[in-house]
Amino acid sequence: MGDVRGELSREKVLVIDFGGQYNQLVARRVRECNVYCEIYSYKTDLEKIKAMNPKGIILTGGPSSCYEEGAATYSPELFSLGVPVLGLCYGAQLMSHVLGGKVERASAREYGKTEVDVDVTSPLFANVTPHTTCWMSHFDYISKLAPGFRVVATTANCPVAAAECREKGLYAIQFHPEVLHTAEGSKMLYNFVRNVCGCAGTWRMDSFVENTVREIREKVGDGKVLLALSGGVDSSVAAGLLSRAIGKQLTCVFVDHGLLRKNEGDEVESVFGEGGQFDLNFIRVNAQQRYYVKLAGVTEPERKRKIIGEEFIRVFEEEAKKIGAVDFLAQGTIYPDVVESGLGGESAVIKSHHNVGGLPDFVDFKEIIEPLRSLFKDEVRQAGLELGIPEKLVFRQPFPGPGLGVRIIGDVTAEKVRIVQDADAIYREEVDKAAAAYKKEYGKDAPWLPNQYFAALTNMRSVGVMGDERTYDYAIALRAVQTVDFMTAECSCLPWDVLQTTMSRIINEVRGVNRVLYDISSKPPGTIEFE
Ligand code: XMP
Repeated sequence: MGDVRGELSREKVLVIDFGGQYNQLVARRVRECNVYCEIYSYKTDLEKIKAMNPKGIILTGGPSSCYEEGAATYSPELFSLGVPVLGLCYGAQLMSHVLGGKVERASAREYGKTEVDVDVTSPLFANVTPHTTCWMSHFDYISKLAPGFRVVATTANCPVAAAECREKGLYAIQFHPEVLHTAEGSKMLYNFVRNVCGCAGTWRMDSFVENTVREIREKVGDGKVLLALSGGVDSSVAAGLLSRAIGKQLTCVFVDHGLLRKNEGDEVESVFGEGGQFDLNFIRVNAQQRYYVKLAGVTEPERKRKIIGEEFIRVFEEEAKKIGAVDFLAQGTIYPDVVESGLGGESAVIKSHHNVGGLPDFVDFKEIIEPLRSLFKDEVRQAGLELGIPEKLVFRQPFPGPGLGVRIIGDVTAEKVRIVQDADAIYREEVDKAAAAYKKEYGKDAPWLPNQYFAALTNMRSVGVMGDERTYDYAIALRAVQTVDFMTAECSCLPWDVLQTTMSRIINEVRGVNRVLYDISSKPPGTIEFE
């Protein structure tokens, strides 16, 4: 929904991405200062940048060396638009290089937490402690300042940890204020966007909801909108927004594929269905048996995923046919999807189609509507709370599209689904209880608190004894991981008593299980899910 950005972007900062690993983090930190920002590739044309009328520009880090042939660069004109520019790491070096300073390779890489002395008379460092900690990660360094610049921060090994040309509103920081290891980094970014750029800080989720609701109404008119609701955070928040904007013009189709967590289908229905708090048409399709038939005897993980995805499209298509032509197909695409699929370019559309498994080919609609397209995940959650979506749903753990299908190793049956649902419910209940008790006692989250935790059904059966009876039952595997980005993960050190209570309850309460294993693998080499 391009017009959503148009409306809200009166006060906008642009983050120009030079390929650094923290580009999205920079944008999130800026938004935490209540300033809207968008990420664009360094290949973006200067005219386009100008047309967006930014209040400020931030250049990110990147892997290149700015003095090398073919390195990522930008036209010097960028620095004379009269718009404040902040260069970070590579961005700082590039700014110096382009404006006539010198950047060279240092004899040793500076990496990790580093003590830094900052000049608190610089607007960038207002209210920052003069001697603080920053996060450094660089080989190259600024060996000579560009004309008009002065040094405003130094470390033991870095003569120009930050520099400024205040008259022109140009600032360069060699370290990474966006990373939490930089103790006062958020303050520095706040100083730049709010004080140097003069942004008023109007980006807030309550106004986002209000504005987006208005824009959806304008765009949709009296048209009909169809949304595939999975019960996940993104589609739920999209449903909440659309419902507030257009009420019964919205129809949500919720496919219960029989691979959801225990009671989850009913929970989604109680929030969005008849008698729930939202005004919309809610269609629940109970396709459980259909899926179990399709999955019977299938053991190969990729094949299982494929069947689940294809069947979803078929079920959704059948429902869409019953509804007839609609004007809009809504999707819960969020900003990281847009960025990762090509920096807001054409390819963004391709990715969002992929998100729902190619739906647009099967459904009769005129246009796609993506009301969350400009939001980061934490902002989606805040918007969800604004809309009154229950916390349980808003702060739901990540759950894969193929659901329990990838948490049951081997073939899927209704009986196995029941086993893993029951075991998983017990496990999550015990972890949640222990986490809440820790927080109550110590006033903070437990150090072992996992970001994702669930039970999976191994396909292994083994001999056990219960009472005086021999058993030959399944082993449940418990997984709990701590992760920042879900690309890598460590096993969480859950307290032994939590594991023991969980084990004892699962074996006593879940028929068909006689062993409980704890998966201590990290990722890599293990993935988070089992298939
Ligand atoms: P893996 O198993 O690849 O999982 O380490 C990383 C994260 O992604 C989630 N996941 C999925 N999410 N559709 C999704 O929407 C999927 O097919 C899928 N597979 C894995 C997983 O739960 C973890 O958070």
